[in-house]
Amino acid sequence: WALHAPYVAAINALKAERGAVILAHNYMRPEIYHGVADVVGDSLQLAIEATRVEAQVIVQAGVHFMAETSKVLNPAKTVLIPDTQAGCSLADAITPAGIAEMRARYPGAPVVSYVNTTAEVKAASDVCCTSSNAVQIVRAQEADTVIMTPDRYLAQNVAAQVPEKNVVWWDGSCIVHERFTAADLRSFREHAPDTRIIAHPECPPDVVAASDFAGSTAAIIDYVSTERPAAAMLLTECSMAANIADAVPGVDFRGPCNLCPYMQMITLEKILWSLHTMTHEVTVDPAVSEGARRAVERMIELSS
Ligand code: 13P
Ligand code: SF4
Repeated sequence: WALHAPYVAAINALKAERGAVILAHNYMRPEIYHGVADVVGDSLQLAIEATRVEAQVIVQAGVHFMAETSKVLNPAKTVLIPDTQAGCSLADAITPAGIAEMRARYPGAPVVSYVNTTAEVKAASDVCCTSSNAVQIVRAQEADTVIMTPDRYLAQNVAAQVPEKNVVWWDGSCIVHERFTAADLRSFREHAPDTRIIAHPECPPDVVAASDFAGSTAAIIDYVSTERPAAAMLLTECSMAANIADAVPGVDFRGPCNLCPYMQMITLEKILWSLHTMTHEVTVDPAVSEGARRAVERMIELSS
């Protein structure tokens, strides 16, 4: 912390001067999560909070699609991302042409796109979802066949919970969550049977099936805070355990550490530079923004 303290102090001072708030995803580095964030949360919580921001400037401590979502939902604000290279393998997996291809393959089926997509893809979709409301959103569709993009594992995990729908999917995946395997889990259970295994629904379905609980990053935090297991293994981005460890003393976090290279690109230094230079501003073409807002607002309506 001694190393981080000067940055934390400088950022917090500059934040006040610029009239800025920092919206930070649960995967941010602990010094961001605890030191400078005004709001922390999962993708759904951050999207909802973005609609409520009164400050003129939003610094998105997260990846690019999250900054775009904030801009789309609150277009009058200046939205800054500290590193434009902070992308996402899921957002890279599909384009509007991919959505058109799925619509041609499954005529009449609604397209439910994960928020981990570009604004263009959201605009080409009927509704968005996050990991915390995907089951609810798919269930709410009238059609029997529902297209989910771009995460095949999230789609397969939802399909298992909504057997009444024919869920079809695009072939994308998250480079962090696809690395967890059911075989690793089984051998871990053998060696540490007392450990509660908690997965994110971006993990492969056999991993989710072999876990004790699966949910969005916010749901994982709620589960650990409520259940307080003696030992827990979080099958998600590794910063999460570090971020919540202080709030749940007594829980021994174990297991592999998979970091998201994109989330890790956001650092205190870059946040300070971002506020100092008021860069990098995230803009979305107004026509695209309108379509994307419709899809995200529909999601928020359906999940409230
Ligand atoms: P949630 O925080 O919505 O669970 O999403 C996880 C994720 O991978 C975001 O990039
Ligand atoms: Fe994208 Fe996966 Fe990183 Fe989340 S953890 S930003 S889904 S690559």
